[in-house]
Amino acid sequence: MRGRLVVGNWKMNGDTASNARLLDAIARGWQAAADRGLAVCVPFPYLAQARERLAGSAVAWGAQDVSEHPSGAHTGEVSAAMVAEFGSRYAIVGHSERRQAHGESDALVAAKAAAALAADLVPVVCVGETLAEREAGATSAVVTRQIDAVIAALGPALARCVVAYEPVWAIGTGRTATPEQAQEVHALLRRRLAAAGAGSIALLYGGSVKAANAASLFGMPDVDGGLVGGASLDADEFLAIGAA
Ligand code: 13P
Repeated sequence: MRGRLVVGNWKMNGDTASNARLLDAIARGWQAAADRGLAVCVPFPYLAQARERLAGSAVAWGAQDVSEHPSGAHTGEVSAAMVAEFGSRYAIVGHSERRQAHGESDALVAAKAAAALAADLVPVVCVGETLAEREAGATSAVVTRQIDAVIAALGPALARCVVAYEPVWAIGTGRTATPEQAQEVHALLRRRLAAAGAGSIALLYGGSVKAANAASLFGMPDVDGGLVGGASLDADEFLAIGAA
């Protein structure tokens, strides 16, 4: 459901000592609120630490990927049920770093979203165009193709997802989409999701979100919050984005 949601994506960062400081600071600094959520998606080995440090706080946690398979001979993979067993609420699926560096297709991303839902996780489904695609005028076509694969695969369960628009050219580059650029794509996604009966799910923007630009991005009518990479590794910055 709509409502402010800010999710940190730690990516492949952290260690036990620095995580403890970060998790404790976030847990201490965040107050429960009915209309605002805060979560961190940590590397798999630290799910137990996230549970230990965040249990009893208003901060949720989750993983950055899940296997599309429920169990079996899939060396190196982690199932959604395993992620759920550690008290996770969320699983990011289809991040552009996985689509690009690990060849994840739209169909695979949709299968991962379905696997997450089957384990009662909320998939944070990422979509977004590359710089070349934007410059070729293909943004709408690309994000429509990406979201339609998920819509087709999930049916009514789509309403239990979160979708994140992350323009690839804005990730880790310091080059944020303008609020208007974000809104334009979010409006398109909202229309597409509404036509499939899921117009009221949370739509997050991701790509160089910081405390300094969060309020203007989140102030747009179809932007419900953010998926935050680098800035989620600094407790004060992340808490300020959560409160924006
Ligand atoms: P940055 O916030 O570091 O640009 O990363 C965005 C992102 O990829 C979050 O999933």
